[in-house]
This record gives sequence, structure tokens and C-alpha cells, in this order.
Amino acid sequence: MDKLKVILSDAKKNILLSESSYDIKLISTKYLGRNGKINLLLQEIKKIDALERKEYGRKINQLKKQIEKLTSEKLTSLTQKEDENETVDVALPGKQYPHGSLHIVTLAIDEISHIFEKIGFIRMSYPEVEWEYFSFDALNMPPDHPARDDFETFFIDSKPHSKYGKMVLTPHTSSGQPREMMRLGQPPIRMINIAKTYRPNWDVSHAPMFHQFEGLCVDKKINISHLKGTISYFAKEFFGAKREIRLRPFHFQFTEPSFEVDITCGVCDGKGFIDDNKTKCKLCKSGWLELGGSGMVHPNVLMAGGIDPDEYTGWAFGFGVERVFMMKEGLNLDDLRILYSGDIRFLEQF
Ligand code: PHE
Repeated sequence: MDKLKVILSDAKKNILLSESSYDIKLISTKYLGRNGKINLLLQEIKKIDALERKEYGRKINQLKKQIEKLTSEKLTSLTQKEDENETVDVALPGKQYPHGSLHIVTLAIDEISHIFEKIGFIRMSYPEVEWEYFSFDALNMPPDHPARDDFETFFIDSKPHSKYGKMVLTPHTSSGQPREMMRLGQPPIRMINIAKTYRPNWDVSHAPMFHQFEGLCVDKKINISHLKGTISYFAKEFFGAKREIRLRPFHFQFTEPSFEVDITCGVCDGKGFIDDNKTKCKLCKSGWLELGGSGMVHPNVLMAGGIDPDEYTGWAFGFGVERVFMMKEGLNLDDLRILYSGDIRFLEQF
């Protein structure tokens, strides 16, 4: 009988101290479960003297009922409290779910297309998997011309086209020039071709896949001042109103005359020095940064596109998307390949 008293007072203490419905469930198993204390007592009933057995059984049952009552009461009050605590606190800050964003190259492409859209240029994307003809021959580069090596092209191992030659991954967006001329049949042409381009280079400043944007304008009486005006407009829209551009004589097979385009450096404002003490600007060293290539479309290219060079003239330029993006952001990436590494820690910064 003493044993029963101890069990009851133990159970009472445990129930009193319990703090959650989970605690109560544990206590309930401990006393009332299949291997619980009550059942153990009942199993031991055989050992009890036959005369006392009935009374003992009655006491155990009473104990069981008491513990059942106490646990169920406590369970009710605890669950009630837990439910109350569960009310929605509308003042709590919400959970932040991660959300994606566009890749920085996509953002740059959108911005570039928009700038040219405003002056009536049509956005095009020409094939990345291209025929040699459009990447080279139609651009005034005969089969054995050394300039073809400059582009170090990826050739695709497949059957050559009877007219257009081997299959390549286009090394520049200039392949879009003859394609656009052929698509329209006749000027005026105002095209901005933005696409992936490929060259087999893999180092800190080159990824084998990169992006270029190519402007092409063909019409009657188009001249260099239109080229310069358009690039200047782009530079001011994209980099800021203070930026100036210059054309520097160069050579491309598909333009004549040809120019490299430079833009004033954003760090030193084109001065080449960062203060009056004449400390050399570390970014540009000369006041100018190189944007890319340009020139007046070569008559042979116009002819390849089915356009009469005696009636029409045109200009073209080709710049790197990654390059202008980095110049705009003042980014000096140790390794340009991080743009395509898929590393979210880098991408999230933009
Ligand atoms: N296609 C040239 C390049 O990739 C750039 C260029 C485009 C030059 C158009 C002149 C005219 O370097």
C-alpha cells in the first residue's frame, strides 16, 4: 500500500512540473502505458496474499483513475495555453524567401537593346552555330586570309554546306551583317544584333563563350559622322553624359575605313591623371579605354548582302557585352570567368 502512495505522489509531482502537452504524454506512458507502472503493479498481484488481493486490486484501479484524471486535466489546460500562444502575431517580421534575379549579362543586354530601340534600331539575334560563309567569306575574308586566324574559331565536326562551307560557332556578331542585309533585301537597315560568340580562349580575361553587340546601319548617304554620333549617343546613355568617344584608325577586313573606338575613362574623366600632382590613372593610364571595333561597311560586304554599294553606304560596330558591363560598373574582375561560374555569392551583388 505504501508503494502505491509513493507512486501517486511521484505522479502528482511529475504532472505538476510538466510544461507541455508533450511532457504529459510521456508521463501518461510512464504510468498508464502497456509497460507502465500501473500494469507492473497488476502483474505483481499474484504475489499478494489471497485475502488481500481483492482490496489491493481495487486500490490499484483507484490509483489508475486518479492518475488518468490528473493527466487529462493537466493536458487540457496545457493544450489550451499552447493554442493561445499559437495565435498569429501580425507584427512579427515575415520570413524572407530567396528570390532569383536576372543574370548581369542579361541585364546589360536589356539595357543595350533599350538604348538602341529608342533610336529605331531593331534587335536581332543571329545563329550561334553558323556557316563559315557568314562568319568570314561574306565579310570579305577569303578562305586563306590570315585575318581568319585572328578569330581562332571553333569548327564543328559535321558535313560542310555545299555553298556556305564548314559549320562554326560564330566568333563574332558580324555574321549578322550579311544575314540582316539578305533578310531585308534592301535598306534602310538599322540593326542591333546581340548574341553569344565563341573563341577557344580560356584565361582570366577570356571565356570561350562571351557576348557581343553589333550595330549595323545601311542607307543612302550614310557616313562616318553617323557612326560617331551613334556610338557617342550610346556611350552617354550607357556610361553617363560626361563620357566622350574617339575613333582611332585600325584595320578590319569587313570595314573600310576601320576604327577602334575609345571612350574617356570614368575614373580620371579622360585626363589620364587622378589629381593635379599628375598621379597616373591606374585604370586607363592614358585617359582612354578601348570599347571595340567599328568602321564603314566594306563594299564587298554590301555586295555579299545583295546591296548596291554605289547607291548605299553603311557603318558597323561590334563591342563586347561583358566588357562594357565591367567598364560601366568599374569592375576589375580578377577572373572574368566568374561571370559564368554560377556562383550565387558573386551574382547576388548586382
Ligand atoms: N567583329 C569585330 C570583332 O569581333 C568587331 C567589329 C564589328 C569591327 C564591326 C568592325 C565592325 O573584333
